[in-house]
Amino acid sequence: MTNHFPVEKLQNIETPFYYYNMELLEQTLQVIKEESSKYGYHIHYAVKANANKRILETINSYGLGADCVSGNEVSASLDAGFPSEKVVFAGVGKSDKEIITGLKNNIGCFNVESIPELEVINELAEKEGLVANVALRINPNVKANTHHYITTGLEENKFGIYIWDLEKVMDKIDELNNVNFKGIHFHIGSQINDLDSYKQLCTRVNELQELFEKRRAIPQIVNVGGGLGVDYENPDENPMPDFKAFFKIFDEFLELKEGQEVHFELGRSVVCQCGSLISRVIYVKEGVNTNFAIVDAGMSDLIRPALYQAYHKIQNLTSSGEEEKYDVVGPICESSDCFGKAVVLPTTQRGDLICIRSAGAYGEIMANQYNLRALPKGFYSSDL
Ligand code: LLP
Repeated sequence: MTNHFPVEKLQNIETPFYYYNMELLEQTLQVIKEESSKYGYHIHYAVKANANKRILETINSYGLGADCVSGNEVSASLDAGFPSEKVVFAGVGKSDKEIITGLKNNIGCFNVESIPELEVINELAEKEGLVANVALRINPNVKANTHHYITTGLEENKFGIYIWDLEKVMDKIDELNNVNFKGIHFHIGSQINDLDSYKQLCTRVNELQELFEKRRAIPQIVNVGGGLGVDYENPDENPMPDFKAFFKIFDEFLELKEGQEVHFELGRSVVCQCGSLISRVIYVKEGVNTNFAIVDAGMSDLIRPALYQAYHKIQNLTSSGEEEKYDVVGPICESSDCFGKAVVLPTTQRGDLICIRSAGAYGEIMANQYNLRALPKGFYSSDL
Protein backbone atom coordinates (compact mmCIF):
# COMPACT_ATOMS: atom_id res chain seq x y z
CA MET A 1 0.00 0.00 0.00
CA THR A 2 1.31 3.44 -0.82
CA ASN A 3 1.79 5.66 2.15
CA HIS A 4 2.79 8.97 0.68
CA PHE A 5 -0.85 9.81 -0.05
CA PRO A 6 -2.46 11.70 2.83
CA VAL A 7 -5.42 9.33 2.70
CA GLU A 8 -7.33 10.75 5.66
CA LYS A 9 -7.29 14.20 4.14
CA LEU A 10 -8.14 12.96 0.68
CA GLN A 11 -11.17 11.16 2.16
CA ASN A 12 -12.77 14.52 2.89
CA ILE A 13 -12.60 15.84 -0.67
CA GLU A 14 -15.42 15.35 -3.13
CA THR A 15 -14.36 12.87 -5.81
CA PRO A 16 -13.23 12.70 -8.56
CA PHE A 17 -10.33 15.14 -8.38
CA TYR A 18 -6.70 15.54 -9.33
CA TYR A 19 -4.21 15.42 -6.50
CA TYR A 20 -0.79 16.97 -7.05
CA ASN A 21 2.23 16.08 -4.96
CA MET A 22 3.90 19.50 -5.03
CA GLU A 23 7.02 18.27 -3.21
CA LEU A 24 7.64 15.77 -5.99
CA LEU A 25 7.07 18.46 -8.61
CA GLU A 26 9.63 20.68 -6.90
CA GLN A 27 12.14 17.84 -6.56
CA THR A 28 11.76 17.11 -10.25
CA LEU A 29 12.24 20.77 -11.15
CA GLN A 30 15.31 20.94 -8.94
CA VAL A 31 16.92 17.98 -10.73
CA ILE A 32 16.06 19.44 -14.14
CA LYS A 33 17.59 22.73 -13.11
CA GLU A 34 20.78 21.15 -11.78
CA GLU A 35 21.31 18.74 -14.65
CA SER A 36 20.54 21.19 -17.45
CA SER A 37 22.55 24.04 -16.01
CA LYS A 38 25.70 21.88 -16.18
CA TYR A 39 25.58 22.51 -19.92
CA GLY A 40 23.91 25.93 -19.94
CA TYR A 41 20.75 24.46 -21.53
CA HIS A 42 17.49 26.41 -21.60
CA ILE A 43 14.34 24.53 -20.61
CA HIS A 44 10.86 25.53 -21.64
CA TYR A 45 7.95 23.72 -20.05
CA ALA A 46 5.42 22.42 -22.59
CA VAL A 47 2.27 24.00 -21.16
CA LYS A 48 0.04 21.60 -23.11
CA ALA A 49 0.89 18.85 -20.59
CA ASN A 50 -0.80 20.70 -17.72
CA ALA A 51 -1.81 24.35 -17.63
CA ASN A 52 -3.07 24.34 -14.06
CA LYS A 53 -2.19 27.78 -12.62
CA ARG A 54 -0.51 26.50 -9.45
CA ILE A 55 1.61 24.12 -11.47
CA LEU A 56 2.59 26.87 -13.93
CA GLU A 57 3.53 29.22 -11.10
CA THR A 58 5.69 26.57 -9.45
CA ILE A 59 7.45 25.78 -12.72
CA ASN A 60 8.05 29.45 -13.39
CA SER A 61 9.60 29.84 -9.94
CA TYR A 62 12.36 27.41 -11.04
CA GLY A 63 13.25 29.64 -13.96
CA LEU A 64 11.93 27.55 -16.85
CA GLY A 65 10.36 29.20 -19.88
CA ALA A 66 6.96 28.31 -21.38
CA ASP A 67 6.39 26.47 -24.65
CA CYS A 68 2.86 27.29 -25.83
CA VAL A 69 0.65 26.03 -28.64
CA SER A 70 -2.28 28.44 -28.47
CA GLY A 71 -3.02 32.08 -27.73
CA ASN A 72 -4.69 30.99 -24.51
CA GLU A 73 -1.59 29.09 -23.43
CA VAL A 74 0.47 32.22 -24.11
CA SER A 75 -1.92 34.27 -21.95
CA ALA A 76 -2.02 31.63 -19.18
CA SER A 77 1.79 31.52 -19.08
CA LEU A 78 2.06 35.30 -18.84
CA ASP A 79 -0.63 35.32 -16.13
CA ALA A 80 1.33 32.73 -14.18
CA GLY A 81 4.35 35.04 -14.29
CA PHE A 82 6.56 33.65 -17.06
CA PRO A 83 8.62 36.51 -18.50
CA SER A 84 7.46 37.23 -22.07
CA GLU A 85 10.92 36.70 -23.57
CA LYS A 86 10.86 33.15 -22.22
CA VAL A 87 7.54 32.37 -23.91
CA VAL A 88 7.69 30.46 -27.18
CA PHE A 89 4.69 29.94 -29.44
CA ALA A 90 4.60 26.76 -31.56
CA GLY A 91 1.87 24.95 -33.46
CA VAL A 92 0.94 24.05 -37.00
CA GLY A 93 -2.21 26.22 -37.18
CA LYS A 94 -1.84 29.51 -35.36
CA SER A 95 -4.76 31.85 -36.06
CA ASP A 96 -4.25 35.56 -36.80
CA LYS A 97 -5.76 36.42 -33.44
CA GLU A 98 -3.34 34.11 -31.65
CA ILE A 99 -0.36 35.49 -33.54
CA ILE A 100 -1.40 39.02 -32.58
CA THR A 101 -1.59 37.92 -28.92
CA GLY A 102 1.99 36.72 -29.21
CA LEU A 103 3.17 39.85 -31.00
CA LYS A 104 1.48 42.29 -28.64
CA ASN A 105 3.01 40.51 -25.67
CA ASN A 106 6.46 40.56 -27.22
CA ILE A 107 7.05 36.84 -26.79
CA GLY A 108 10.52 35.39 -27.33
CA CYS A 109 9.93 33.41 -30.49
CA PHE A 110 7.40 31.90 -32.90
CA ASN A 111 8.18 28.37 -34.02
CA VAL A 112 7.03 28.43 -37.63
CA GLU A 113 5.88 25.41 -39.59
CA SER A 114 5.21 26.65 -43.15
CA ILE A 115 5.78 29.45 -45.68
CA PRO A 116 2.16 30.68 -45.53
CA GLU A 117 2.49 30.99 -41.75
CA LEU A 118 5.74 32.90 -42.13
CA GLU A 119 4.03 35.34 -44.50
CA VAL A 120 1.12 35.90 -42.13
CA ILE A 121 3.41 36.50 -39.14
CA ASN A 122 5.42 38.96 -41.25
CA GLU A 123 2.29 40.80 -42.35
CA LEU A 124 0.81 41.02 -38.86
CA ALA A 125 4.16 42.08 -37.35
CA GLU A 126 4.43 44.81 -39.96
CA LYS A 127 0.99 46.12 -38.99
CA GLU A 128 2.09 46.21 -35.36
CA GLY A 129 5.37 47.88 -36.32
CA LEU A 130 7.34 44.96 -34.91
CA VAL A 131 9.88 42.39 -35.99
CA ALA A 132 9.00 38.86 -34.84
CA ASN A 133 11.67 36.34 -33.89
CA VAL A 134 11.06 33.07 -35.68
CA ALA A 135 12.50 29.59 -35.42
CA LEU A 136 11.84 27.06 -38.14
CA ARG A 137 10.30 23.80 -37.07
CA ILE A 138 11.97 21.22 -39.23
CA ASN A 139 10.58 17.74 -39.73
CA PRO A 140 13.72 15.68 -39.05
CA ASN A 141 12.27 12.40 -40.28
CA VAL A 142 13.52 10.59 -37.20
CA LYS A 143 11.43 7.71 -35.97
CA ALA A 144 10.81 7.81 -32.26
CA ASN A 145 9.97 4.44 -30.80
CA THR A 146 6.58 5.30 -29.27
CA HIS A 147 2.81 5.09 -29.82
CA HIS A 148 1.95 6.04 -33.41
CA TYR A 149 -0.53 8.68 -32.21
CA ILE A 150 2.24 10.62 -30.50
CA THR A 151 5.12 10.36 -32.93
CA THR A 152 5.57 13.65 -34.71
CA GLY A 153 8.96 13.78 -36.40
CA LEU A 154 8.26 11.62 -39.45
CA GLU A 155 7.68 12.84 -43.00
CA GLU A 156 4.15 11.47 -42.99
CA ASN A 157 3.20 13.66 -39.99
CA LYS A 158 1.66 17.10 -40.48
CA PHE A 159 4.33 18.83 -38.43
CA GLY A 160 7.23 20.96 -39.51
CA ILE A 161 9.00 22.02 -42.68
CA TYR A 162 10.45 19.30 -44.89
CA ILE A 163 14.20 19.26 -45.14
CA TRP A 164 14.01 19.59 -48.96
CA ASP A 165 12.00 22.81 -48.60
CA LEU A 166 14.43 24.51 -46.26
CA GLU A 167 16.36 26.53 -48.86
CA LYS A 168 13.06 27.87 -50.21
CA VAL A 169 11.92 28.84 -46.72
CA MET A 170 15.22 30.56 -45.95
CA ASP A 171 14.95 32.49 -49.26
CA LYS A 172 11.51 33.61 -48.14
CA ILE A 173 12.83 34.78 -44.75
CA ASP A 174 15.47 36.83 -46.58
CA GLU A 175 12.68 38.56 -48.52
CA LEU A 176 10.58 39.44 -45.48
CA ASN A 177 11.35 42.51 -43.34
CA ASN A 178 9.34 41.82 -40.22
CA VAL A 179 10.64 38.40 -39.25
CA ASN A 180 14.04 37.68 -37.76
CA PHE A 181 15.54 34.21 -38.19
CA LYS A 182 16.43 33.11 -34.70
CA GLY A 183 16.56 29.36 -34.56
CA ILE A 184 15.72 25.84 -35.64
CA HIS A 185 13.27 23.60 -33.87
CA PHE A 186 12.66 19.85 -33.79
CA HIS A 187 10.38 17.50 -31.90
CA ILE A 188 10.36 13.79 -32.60
CA GLY A 189 7.47 12.60 -30.44
CA SER A 190 6.37 11.93 -26.91
CA GLN A 191 6.82 9.24 -24.21
CA ILE A 192 10.24 8.34 -25.60
CA ASN A 193 12.21 6.01 -23.36
CA ASP A 194 14.79 4.88 -25.84
CA LEU A 195 17.46 7.56 -25.71
CA ASP A 196 18.91 6.32 -29.02
CA SER A 197 16.13 8.23 -30.79
CA TYR A 198 17.68 11.41 -29.42
CA LYS A 199 21.13 10.39 -30.66
CA GLN A 200 19.62 10.07 -34.13
CA LEU A 201 18.05 13.48 -33.76
CA CYS A 202 21.44 14.97 -32.84
CA THR A 203 23.00 13.42 -35.95
CA ARG A 204 20.26 14.91 -38.12
CA VAL A 205 20.64 18.33 -36.52
CA ASN A 206 24.42 18.22 -37.08
CA GLU A 207 23.88 17.45 -40.78
CA LEU A 208 21.40 20.30 -41.14
CA GLN A 209 23.66 22.82 -39.47
CA GLU A 210 25.81 22.71 -42.62
CA LEU A 211 22.99 24.03 -44.76
CA PHE A 212 22.68 27.09 -42.53
CA GLU A 213 26.40 27.57 -42.30
CA LYS A 214 26.66 27.62 -46.09
CA ARG A 215 24.06 30.39 -46.16
CA ARG A 216 25.86 32.22 -43.35
CA ALA A 217 22.65 32.19 -41.35
CA ILE A 218 23.69 30.39 -38.19
CA PRO A 219 20.65 29.84 -35.98
CA GLN A 220 21.22 31.15 -32.48
CA ILE A 221 18.75 28.69 -30.97
CA VAL A 222 18.77 24.95 -31.51
CA ASN A 223 15.54 23.70 -29.98
CA VAL A 224 15.46 19.92 -29.73
CA GLY A 225 11.91 19.69 -28.41
CA GLY A 226 10.65 17.42 -25.66
CA GLY A 227 9.28 13.92 -25.47
CA LEU A 228 11.26 12.33 -22.64
CA GLY A 229 9.15 9.47 -21.29
CA VAL A 230 8.24 8.44 -17.76
CA ASP A 231 7.74 5.06 -16.08
CA TYR A 232 3.98 4.52 -15.90
CA GLU A 233 4.46 0.99 -14.52
CA ASN A 234 6.61 1.93 -11.55
CA PRO A 235 5.84 5.48 -10.46
CA ASP A 236 7.12 4.86 -6.91
CA GLU A 237 10.41 3.28 -7.96
CA ASN A 238 10.98 5.84 -10.74
CA PRO A 239 9.33 9.10 -9.73
CA MET A 240 11.27 10.94 -12.42
CA PRO A 241 13.16 10.03 -15.59
CA ASP A 242 16.94 9.98 -15.79
CA PHE A 243 17.42 13.64 -16.67
CA LYS A 244 21.16 13.33 -16.19
CA ALA A 245 21.48 10.70 -18.94
CA PHE A 246 19.07 12.63 -21.15
CA PHE A 247 20.94 15.94 -21.15
CA LYS A 248 24.27 14.13 -21.44
CA ILE A 249 23.21 12.67 -24.81
CA PHE A 250 22.92 16.16 -26.26
CA ASP A 251 26.21 17.25 -24.75
CA GLU A 252 27.92 14.25 -26.33
CA PHE A 253 26.24 14.12 -29.71
CA LEU A 254 25.18 17.63 -30.67
CA GLU A 255 27.85 19.62 -32.51
CA LEU A 256 27.19 23.26 -31.83
CA LYS A 257 28.43 26.36 -33.60
CA GLU A 258 29.78 29.24 -31.62
CA GLY A 259 27.21 31.16 -29.61
CA GLN A 260 24.42 28.62 -30.11
CA GLU A 261 21.98 27.94 -27.30
CA VAL A 262 20.26 24.58 -26.85
CA HIS A 263 16.59 24.71 -25.89
CA PHE A 264 14.29 21.90 -24.71
CA GLU A 265 10.51 21.69 -24.42
CA LEU A 266 9.71 19.18 -21.71
CA GLY A 267 6.13 18.49 -20.72
CA ARG A 268 5.32 15.00 -19.49
CA SER A 269 8.64 14.41 -17.75
CA VAL A 270 8.11 17.52 -15.60
CA VAL A 271 4.57 16.98 -14.35
CA CYS A 272 3.42 13.41 -15.00
CA GLN A 273 4.43 11.61 -11.82
CA CYS A 274 3.30 14.32 -9.42
CA GLY A 275 -0.37 13.98 -10.42
CA SER A 276 -2.97 11.33 -9.61
CA LEU A 277 -6.65 11.09 -10.35
CA ILE A 278 -8.51 10.17 -7.16
CA SER A 279 -11.94 8.61 -7.41
CA ARG A 280 -14.30 6.64 -5.26
CA VAL A 281 -15.85 3.24 -5.91
CA ILE A 282 -19.57 3.69 -6.39
CA TYR A 283 -20.47 0.05 -6.93
CA VAL A 284 -18.78 -3.30 -7.21
CA LYS A 285 -20.62 -5.41 -9.73
CA GLU A 286 -20.12 -9.06 -10.56
CA GLY A 287 -19.71 -9.68 -14.26
CA VAL A 288 -19.66 -12.90 -16.28
CA ASN A 289 -15.90 -13.08 -16.60
CA THR A 290 -14.77 -10.45 -14.20
CA ASN A 291 -15.81 -8.12 -11.41
CA PHE A 292 -16.29 -4.48 -12.18
CA ALA A 293 -15.18 -1.76 -9.83
CA ILE A 294 -17.30 1.16 -11.00
CA VAL A 295 -15.67 4.41 -9.98
CA ASP A 296 -16.95 7.99 -10.13
CA ALA A 297 -14.14 9.15 -12.45
CA GLY A 298 -14.62 8.59 -16.13
CA MET A 299 -12.87 8.97 -19.46
CA SER A 300 -13.99 12.60 -19.37
CA ASP A 301 -11.60 13.14 -16.44
CA LEU A 302 -8.69 11.13 -17.85
CA ILE A 303 -8.96 10.17 -21.49
CA ARG A 304 -5.54 8.58 -22.03
CA PRO A 305 -6.59 4.92 -21.46
CA ALA A 306 -9.57 5.28 -23.83
CA LEU A 307 -7.72 7.32 -26.45
CA TYR A 308 -4.30 5.68 -26.56
CA GLN A 309 -4.90 2.42 -24.69
CA ALA A 310 -2.47 3.97 -22.22
CA TYR A 311 -1.53 2.09 -19.08
CA HIS A 312 -1.92 3.85 -15.71
CA LYS A 313 -1.17 2.09 -12.44
CA ILE A 314 -4.31 1.79 -10.31
CA GLN A 315 -4.29 1.46 -6.53
CA ASN A 316 -6.87 1.10 -3.81
CA LEU A 317 -5.86 3.63 -1.14
CA THR A 318 -8.25 2.51 1.57
CA SER A 319 -8.62 -1.31 1.54
CA SER A 320 -5.96 -3.93 2.07
CA GLY A 321 -5.98 -7.70 2.34
CA GLU A 322 -6.76 -10.41 -0.13
CA GLU A 323 -6.39 -9.58 -3.79
CA GLU A 324 -8.84 -9.98 -6.63
CA LYS A 325 -9.06 -8.87 -10.23
CA TYR A 326 -11.32 -6.04 -11.31
CA ASP A 327 -12.06 -4.14 -14.47
CA VAL A 328 -11.94 -0.56 -13.23
CA VAL A 329 -14.55 1.35 -15.20
CA GLY A 330 -16.22 4.75 -15.11
CA PRO A 331 -19.87 5.81 -15.28
CA ILE A 332 -19.81 7.11 -18.88
CA CYS A 333 -21.94 5.55 -21.59
CA GLU A 334 -19.06 4.13 -23.64
CA SER A 335 -17.38 0.74 -23.41
CA SER A 336 -14.04 2.48 -23.76
CA ASP A 337 -14.67 4.19 -20.42
CA CYS A 338 -12.31 1.75 -18.76
CA PHE A 339 -9.16 2.62 -16.79
CA GLY A 340 -7.79 -0.89 -16.61
CA LYS A 341 -8.76 -4.49 -17.20
CA ALA A 342 -8.09 -7.33 -14.75
CA VAL A 343 -6.44 -4.94 -12.33
CA VAL A 344 -5.24 -6.70 -9.19
CA LEU A 345 -6.61 -4.88 -6.16
CA PRO A 346 -7.31 -5.82 -2.57
CA THR A 347 -10.96 -6.80 -2.13
CA THR A 348 -12.65 -3.59 -3.06
CA GLN A 349 -15.90 -2.17 -1.81
CA ARG A 350 -18.22 0.75 -2.26
CA GLY A 351 -16.66 3.93 -0.89
CA ASP A 352 -13.00 2.90 -1.38
CA LEU A 353 -10.65 5.51 -2.76
CA ILE A 354 -9.10 4.49 -6.05
CA CYS A 355 -5.99 6.26 -7.21
CA ILE A 356 -4.94 6.39 -10.86
CA ARG A 357 -1.26 7.20 -10.96
CA SER A 358 0.99 9.16 -13.33
CA ALA A 359 -1.87 11.43 -14.36
CA GLY A 360 -0.18 14.81 -14.00
CA ALA A 361 0.53 15.12 -17.72
CA TYR A 362 -2.23 15.20 -20.33
CA GLY A 363 -4.75 14.39 -17.60
CA GLU A 364 -6.60 17.37 -16.17
CA ILE A 365 -5.87 19.44 -19.27
CA MET A 366 -7.53 16.90 -21.58
CA ALA A 367 -10.60 16.58 -19.36
CA ASN A 368 -13.91 17.39 -21.00
CA GLN A 369 -17.58 17.54 -20.13
CA TYR A 370 -18.88 14.52 -22.03
CA ASN A 371 -22.19 13.36 -20.50
CA LEU A 372 -22.36 16.89 -19.10
CA ARG A 373 -20.08 15.95 -16.27
CA ALA A 374 -18.34 18.57 -14.16
CA LEU A 375 -14.67 19.19 -14.89
CA PRO A 376 -12.39 17.73 -12.20
CA LYS A 377 -10.70 20.15 -9.81
CA GLY A 378 -7.10 20.11 -8.65
CA PHE A 379 -5.92 19.80 -5.03
CA TYR A 380 -2.33 20.27 -3.88
CA SER A 381 -0.35 18.43 -1.21
CA SER A 382 1.02 21.71 0.08
CA ASP A 383 -2.51 22.92 0.92
CA LEU A 384 -3.75 19.82 2.74
N1 LLP B 1 7.09 20.18 -28.15
C1 LLP B 1 6.20 19.87 -29.12
C2 LLP B 1 6.33 20.53 -30.41
C3 LLP B 1 5.18 18.95 -28.88
O1 LLP B 1 4.33 18.65 -29.85
C4 LLP B 1 5.08 18.32 -27.61
C5 LLP B 1 4.01 17.37 -27.32
C6 LLP B 1 6.03 18.67 -26.63
C7 LLP B 1 7.02 19.60 -26.94
C8 LLP B 1 6.00 18.08 -25.25
O2 LLP B 1 6.21 16.73 -25.30
P1 LLP B 1 6.39 15.88 -23.93
O3 LLP B 1 7.70 16.29 -23.31
O4 LLP B 1 5.25 16.18 -23.06
O5 LLP B 1 6.39 14.47 -24.40
N2 LLP B 1 -1.67 13.71 -25.22
C9 LLP B 1 -0.59 12.78 -25.47
C10 LLP B 1 0.74 13.47 -25.70
C11 LLP B 1 0.73 14.45 -26.84
C12 LLP B 1 2.04 15.17 -27.00
C13 LLP B 1 1.93 16.28 -27.98
N3 LLP B 1 3.12 17.04 -28.16
C14 LLP B 1 -0.54 11.79 -24.31
O6 LLP B 1 -1.36 11.88 -23.41
O7 LLP B 1 0.31 10.91 -24.28
